[in-house]
Amino acid sequence: QEVLAAEMERTFIAIKPDGVQRGLISEIVSRFERKGFKLVGIKVVVPSKDFAQKHYHVLMERPFFNGLALVLLFAMVWEGEGVIRYGRKLIGATDPQKSEPGTIRGDLAVVVGRNIIHGSDGPETAKDEINLWFKPQELVSYTNNAEKWIY
Ligand code: PPS
Repeated sequence: QEVLAAEMERTFIAIKPDGVQRGLISEIVSRFERKGFKLVGIKVVVPSKDFAQKHYHVLMERPFFNGLALVLLFAMVWEGEGVIRYGRKLIGATDPQKSEPGTIRGDLAVVVGRNIIHGSDGPETAKDEINLWFKPQELVSYTNNAEKWIY
């Protein structure tokens, strides 16, 4: 079981300030949890502007870069088979006008500047973002009893 846990894919998921302010933490956590993914890291962060811009460094050239205010974040690491790609599916398209009903953004958000949640877009990004926001000792490995019924 330990070996299985160590090899499982992980992704960085963060509820943005608008999602936290709107009281959507439990709603969002619940969707990932019910799917069968496992929460292995979690914290509330108030990052400096510099730190937040480190997270968004690939967007440096975009016109909205300076407005990307990650002033308050509910940061998580979720684990499970296919969690990076499927996490993005649960989240829905970047622009909530285009995300499907049934997705987090489709059900809970209206405009792109207030799209409530972030999820890593691939394996490399997931690794980088997890390392940026979490120290290794803040991530745990454990077996939950549901797992033998999920896999
Ligand atoms: S994607 O899905 O990441 O490829 O989409 P992309 O359009 O490249 O967007 C990258 C991130 O920028 C955010 N974004 C914006 N924020 C504020 N205002 C505007 N207009 C805007 N357009 C895009 C978008 O939410 C993505 O951030 P994350 O944190 O991944 O959601």
